[in-house]
Amino acid sequence: MEKKKIAIVFGTRPEAIKMAPVILELKKHQETFETCIIVTAQHREMLDQVLAVFDIKPDYDLDIMRKNQTLSDITADVLKGIETVLIKERPDIILVHGDTTTSFAAALAAYYHKIPIGHVEAGLRTYDKYFPFPEEGNRQLIDTMTDLFFVPTEMTKANLLKEGKDEKQIVVTGNTVIDAIHYTRDSQRKHPALDLMDAKPNQKWVLLTSHRRENYGEPMTNIFEAMLEVVNAHSEVDVLLPVHLSPTVQKVAREILGDHERIHLIEPLEVDVFHQVIAKAYLVLTDSGGLQEEAPALDIPVLVLRDKTERPEGLQAGTLRVIGTDKERVIEEVTELITNKERYKKMSKAINPYGDGFASVRIVKEIKDYFQ
Ligand code: UD1
Ligand code: UDP
Repeated sequence: MEKKKIAIVFGTRPEAIKMAPVILELKKHQETFETCIIVTAQHREMLDQVLAVFDIKPDYDLDIMRKNQTLSDITADVLKGIETVLIKERPDIILVHGDTTTSFAAALAAYYHKIPIGHVEAGLRTYDKYFPFPEEGNRQLIDTMTDLFFVPTEMTKANLLKEGKDEKQIVVTGNTVIDAIHYTRDSQRKHPALDLMDAKPNQKWVLLTSHRRENYGEPMTNIFEAMLEVVNAHSEVDVLLPVHLSPTVQKVAREILGDHERIHLIEPLEVDVFHQVIAKAYLVLTDSGGLQEEAPALDIPVLVLRDKTERPEGLQAGTLRVIGTDKERVIEEVTELITNKERYKKMSKAINPYGDGFASVRIVKEIKDYFQ
């Protein structure tokens, strides 16, 4: 087989974490594949943290991030920027990940140039176009243009079949986030956040993250106010909140939670440190997508700060609960998990419905088969 050029495009923290194992695997097959790594830098600092952990050096960096960027800013900048690179490089296939605006706009640029598209983490759905927003729209739009669907689970495959996609184009691979956890688990990196948790080993550490656009405004205020009430009512609880760099999140987090001795607002963590933090936590409270996959794999219960999830596997397994963003409900659910040992035990069993850590091996094999 003639050597094929694979373009891999990503721009945000979670895409980078989940694409890194695919890149490392492709690099093991240099006789078959040439890689062209293109980052949009929709995120700047949070992307660079991941590139450093996995020692990945992009071939192109569009450096598009702006403070308070709008969805149209990102779409327009990525579309034009990726087009320029695609014209120059003419890759044989482009790989995009998940549901970000980087992924959607990059897929659109590839489609306009009739370059085949491989979609890693395809098929996730809530079927509500505003939850999560704009991710549900992005992933459905990407999947209308996709040639190779790399789906994490049988449930996600079933979504695509239901939509009339051709089974021959779909491969169940597991989620590459488990590959990433296998990569980071040997990390011995020290960090003040780990020291902080170790210094109070008998505390119930709640790991909190929130960044979703649909939670901006009242829902996020509710979440943070609820946490403040829980901490005030329970001296055995400490909260660790690595604050997303979005100015909207920074502002509300600091306003509501910035001044409490048992609430620790810190910078975003490198992913290898963050995985250690999850493992030390008592419970995870989050609206993140990736954390819903990682925490169950690391044995930690998750309360999901959303009305819907596209990750029903964890729900079925009993390690996730979708609790929404109503203040009273959040207080109630967190309090229940802190005080009800039975409920806690039931939710904290090690369940990993997302694969065996070899998703990227399957993805690379499938790309090889596609060209043969
Ligand atoms: C994006 C994705 C979302 C994903 C999330 C992961 C879209 C529309 N949204 O949302 O699907 O869940 O990333 O975190 O694709 N910022 C920095 N430095 C950084 C990163 C962000 O300063 O390293 C600030 C910038 O001011 C930026 C803002 O955060 O404008 C928001 O970033 P953006 O990528 O637009 O949205 P996210 O909420 O991060
Ligand atoms: N993460 C990280 N450092 C942090 C917080 C999160 O490395 O301080 C990682 C986390 O392990 C997960 C990913 O970022 O793999 C999730 O990203 P995020 O919540 O920003 O986006 P989502 O998954 O919701 O798209």
